[in-house]
Amino acid sequence: MMSSVLKALAVCLVFCYGVFTIAVYVVIAVFNGTFFRGPTEKERLELLLAKDRLWNLSKQWSGLDHRFLTVSDGFKFHYVTNATPGSHATHGSLVIFLHGFPDSWAIWRHILASPLIRERSTVVAVDLPGYGGSDGLEVYGASEVLEKLTEFIVGIREQYGVDISENNKPARKVIIVGHDWGALLGFRLASEAPQLANRFILTNGPLFALMRTNIALAVSSSAKMFKTFWRNPLHSHSILFQSIIALRRVLRQLAMSGYIFAFQLPVPMVRYLGAGGNHSFLKFVHKQAAGAVGEYTIRDAEESMASTIGPGDEECQTVTSDGEQYPPSVAKRQKAGNFIDTVSYYRDGAATRRWHKSLRTITALHGLSPGEPRRTSSGTGFFDPSAGTLKANATILWGALDSALDSHLALEGIADYLVRGSQVITLPKTGHFSPMEVEGRGALEKAVEWAIGDEKRDVRDVIAEVYPEATVAVRK
Ligand SMILES: *[C@@H]1O[C@H](CO)[C@@H](O)[C@H](O)[C@H]1NC(C)=O
Ligand SMILES: *[C@@H]1O[C@H](CO)[C@@H](O)[C@H](O)[C@H]1NC(C)=O
Ligand SMILES: *[C@@H]1O[C@H](CO)[C@@H](O)[C@H](O)[C@H]1NC(C)=O
Repeated sequence: MMSSVLKALAVCLVFCYGVFTIAVYVVIAVFNGTFFRGPTEKERLELLLAKDRLWNLSKQWSGLDHRFLTVSDGFKFHYVTNATPGSHATHGSLVIFLHGFPDSWAIWRHILASPLIRERSTVVAVDLPGYGGSDGLEVYGASEVLEKLTEFIVGIREQYGVDISENNKPARKVIIVGHDWGALLGFRLASEAPQLANRFILTNGPLFALMRTNIALAVSSSAKMFKTFWRNPLHSHSILFQSIIALRRVLRQLAMSGYIFAFQLPVPMVRYLGAGGNHSFLKFVHKQAAGAVGEYTIRDAEESMASTIGPGDEECQTVTSDGEQYPPSVAKRQKAGNFIDTVSYYRDGAATRRWHKSLRTITALHGLSPGEPRRTSSGTGFFDPSAGTLKANATILWGALDSALDSHLALEGIADYLVRGSQVITLPKTGHFSPMEVEGRGALEKAVEWAIGDEKRDVRDVIAEVYPEATVAVRK
């Protein structure tokens, strides 16, 4: 009885906070003047051009090709790459880029333009399920998303010959680069399927198990102090104060996470948040993502919008040089908008749920590390103390001005989760969207260059060539 009352109360609180958040966004949008302003002719034209640049399958984007990989159940992934499947010209490391919310492969457009990275490696920038030009899922739970993503990575490794060892050539290195949700999923893979890559480069996304632990610790110590205060309320004001202080980072995170509560609302309300007020919410996010340095042109704004909303009707008619098209679900999703798909990662527990690995996945992962008896964590539950611990090398680049994630809650105690050969590098001038911000993307580019090389130098020194303020927070 008591617990059902508490549950109902929790649902009410989530609902109210979600509605409140949407109301705040509406007020901000009206105040900024975006709410009632439809697109100008110039904006309309720039959006068409940007969609054509990013999504027209018949042409290259800055020398990269559009390709598709079909995995089980006919699920089609869209990605861009500099390599031809099966060709012997593929060389160097394989670098797979995973974007976050609300983006697509195109969040990596600045880093993918780097000639050095393209010369020395095979790059693959994929659209996550439900985003850009990839098929969508019915449910975006952890098992559904991670199964598909793992199949994609295994398939790409195969397609580009990573696991073929000819004439005792050293195996090619695989690097997974992730931002936001891409980083969250990257952390999960590094923990639960570490065979997939030799190094994970993850930026401004949470190691969820750690963050949850940090929040739980703060809440429980605050609760203890509050109980002490409650026993003797008249004589222990300072303890009340301390219990609030102990909770301040959680409260800050809660304030920054309003949008996540809004995403839990009924579908029509979430749709309204995504498209209402002339796309004010997305415009607001895109402007933030561009960072404070450098100008923000109409072209930039429309390119970000094109990245978020994916291929349009026109692009769905286009065909790649080997005769492939976007799957029919993309054309369908395009009509109603892809916002619900993209926020379903938050709604369906892609971060919180257990990943029940299929037999196929377990077998595929096993096949990637012959002779190396690495334990897959298919048997570990959430309350296992080792849950979330990484088992592959990781380099974490953290924009300290992140406006979506509290840096302390995200990073405190992270050293315990990392293996030898891992680092955490703090970027003090960078916010959440490190792959977009001018300085952040420079740092990321350097980290990728370092990883596709021999990793001989200190990664901080390599990054410091373009970002002198970068500091080492953890080195293992
Ligand atoms: C979008 O802008 C137009 C002006 O072009 C305005 O008439 C309309 O009300 C706006 N849409 C919303 C949902 O406010
Ligand atoms: C896509 O690009 C091709 C090649 O540049 C061009 O001919 C075609 O018109 C474009 N398609 C659409 C729908 O824009
Ligand atoms: C991790 O990185 C270290 C240092 O670069 C390296 O010696 C080690 O072999 C790497 N481990 C794996 C599993 O790749």
